[in-house]
Amino acid sequence: MKIDRKYIEKFINVTSKAAVASSFLVGKNDKLAADKAAVDSMRAELNKVDMIGKIVIGEGSLDEAPMLYTGEVLGNKQGPKFDIAVDPLEGTNFVANNLPGALSVIAIANESNLLGAPETYMDKISANLNEKGVVDLDYTIKENIYNLSEYKNKKPSMLTVCLLNRPRHKKIIEELQALKVKIKLITDGDISGALLVTKEKNGVDLFLGVGGGPEGVLSASALDAFDCFFQGKFLFVSDEEKEMARKAGIQNFDKKYELKDIVSGDSIFCATGITNGDLVAGIKKKKYEFHLETFVTHKSSGLRKIIKTKQRFN
Ligand code: FBP
Repeated sequence: MKIDRKYIEKFINVTSKAAVASSFLVGKNDKLAADKAAVDSMRAELNKVDMIGKIVIGEGSLDEAPMLYTGEVLGNKQGPKFDIAVDPLEGTNFVANNLPGALSVIAIANESNLLGAPETYMDKISANLNEKGVVDLDYTIKENIYNLSEYKNKKPSMLTVCLLNRPRHKKIIEELQALKVKIKLITDGDISGALLVTKEKNGVDLFLGVGGGPEGVLSASALDAFDCFFQGKFLFVSDEEKEMARKAGIQNFDKKYELKDIVSGDSIFCATGITNGDLVAGIKKKKYEFHLETFVTHKSSGLRKIIKTKQRFN
């Protein structure tokens, strides 16, 4: 079933309001307050939407988060049933320290069409191709680079790989350096990192590495609208995390998720910039208005673009 186009504007409004709410905390060295501002705003705005919207990825379980907890049902309860994944503030460090790349993000699919991801790490890979067997989480770094090099008809030294700058990626980074690949290290914000493969002008051929599982699901829903490639595999470090995953409905802990296992059918994805980033510009305050940019996809209509909006300053 198609998601009506009228919802595009409604969800742009949701992430835009959350982005503005959090923007007052830019550079205030308070990650929690910045996150709370975005969460409160997003929840209030979601409750105004004509829908029965179930949070499948939220701020945690009910006992951890009174707002936007996984399983919470939002909307005015008059409309279609949606699954909703949220990251009201992606890049809490970015807002706290006034750094580029902070976003407010949401993904919506029809009921039962979006994977509920536990708050664990995920090993991820994305590229702008939809053939199988070119890149794969099960391949070595060398295999992935050589295959992609052949597929794109670019020497490995002309390929750029984006990944989070983390000690856990030391070996991968060394392997990429040995292959003379160009590396784009990001300090945070791997939703944006994974989405950089969507446009040639971003200059990223491959995104990979370990980041948040919920962020993986959110990226995947946008990548689906671009017919891009994504795979993700949850990584569990404790029995507690496995228990969380079981509650989220995950039975096979070793499963490699293909894009179609994460999101199916129609979907909408919105990511509004808070501070300037690679994907979208940040919020600009002009006289009595905020000027915003939102990266939007709507699978069924083929919409995939940056939409500029304004919000009145109260
Ligand atoms: P927050 O906005 O919750 O701080 O997440 C930022 C982020 O960089 C994500 O984009 C990424 O998936 C995750 O943190 C990586 O986690 P870690 O910092 O533990 O490596």
